Amino acid sequence: MSSLVKRPLSRRLVEGVARRGLRAVNSRMIVPPGPSRELPTGRLLSEEHAVTRRLFARLSNKHIASVERAIGNDAHLTLQYTAEQEPLAREQLILTFGAWVKDAALLERTGLRTAQPPEDVHTMARGPLAAAGGLYEADLIADALASAGVDLAEVSSALDFGCSSGRVLRVLHAAYPQTSWRGCDPNAPAIEWASANLPGIDFFASADAPPLALEDASLDLAYAISIWSHFAPELGLRWFAEMHRLIRPGGHLVCTTHGLTSVAHYAAAGLRSADQSREISDALYRRGWWYRAEFGRRGDWGVTNPDWGTAFLSPEWMLTQLCPRWRVLEFAPGRNQDNQDVYVLQRV
Ligand SMILES: C[S@@+](CC[C@H](N)C(=O)[O-])C[C@H]1O[C@@H](n2cnc3c(N)ncnc32)[C@H](O)[C@@H]1O
Repeated sequence: MSSLVKRPLSRRLVEGVARRGLRAVNSRMIVPPGPSRELPTGRLLSEEHAVTRRLFARLSNKHIASVERAIGNDAHLTLQYTAEQEPLAREQLILTFGAWVKDAALLERTGLRTAQPPEDVHTMARGPLAAAGGLYEADLIADALASAGVDLAEVSSALDFGCSSGRVLRVLHAAYPQTSWRGCDPNAPAIEWASANLPGIDFFASADAPPLALEDASLDLAYAISIWSHFAPELGLRWFAEMHRLIRPGGHLVCTTHGLTSVAHYAAAGLRSADQSREISDALYRRGWWYRAEFGRRGDWGVTNPDWGTAFLSPEWMLTQLCPRWRVLEFAPGRNQDNQDVYVLQRV
């Protein structure tokens, strides 16, 4: 629990943000529109950004200049490229725009792929800034593991649990091709698209509830971005038990949840009302979780499951439920895009 107290959020702060930041909305969530078309930002703590750096290091100055020439021929890309001042964002942009303009040398050197899911296939991000895949999320996982002393380069078998159409796996597979990468998701069209377009990764459709068709202790690592932020607590606990079965003793699970930082995040963005923000923070303080089946009858891109909605979990609830079967190596409130909390768990 090295960083449990890194950035404590007081109840007064959360409620203050909720009061100040809100537009007048009703007490239900307003679902944010569509997949993101922006470069994600947020706090990555270790300053390593191992995945972006690893891929970028494969490029020579000649390759970089060739991508920069292509960017210069496109007004929209130029605007985004010149607006970015951060050195890391420049590396991300060269990689992602290089994939977008299909720069042959860059693709060959990095192993990144150009296929993009069509509009009717689920993905969390689209457009030029997402063309290489989830660079930000891949860095997030590598950095979270690095904070806990784990090097992704030493992982031999890994699962992206709830991988959608594989935006994160495609980046990790390019950066660490020696690892055996698997991804699963109940969204069958997303898995079908990923299997057909992202060779070298083992994708399979999974059920809403455990088990997965994998052997006991067959994984060194599983990660799950925005997955336990959606499970009703009972189902979430069953999936933690399943991860415990699948991950070998000493292996790791990286997962994100909504916590108090998310309450402040949604309130400030006007996506949840003051009343509901208070209801959620009260539930977190009093019993450790809040859950609503918010996807409605059509489900989440066709995934209909009453136990798949929106969940908020407190770190106290996580510790009480998970320990001693898991060791909590890292807890970083809001580390994922200043919204979701990131946990690194070690299977005991
Ligand atoms: C918010 S998206 C995140 C996708 C992916 N992790 C990413 O970051 O791009 C949530 C994903 O979880 C999937 N999902 C829904 N029910 C699930 C379940 N029972 N087990 C695993 N994944 C599930 C959804 O189909 C969707 O692809």
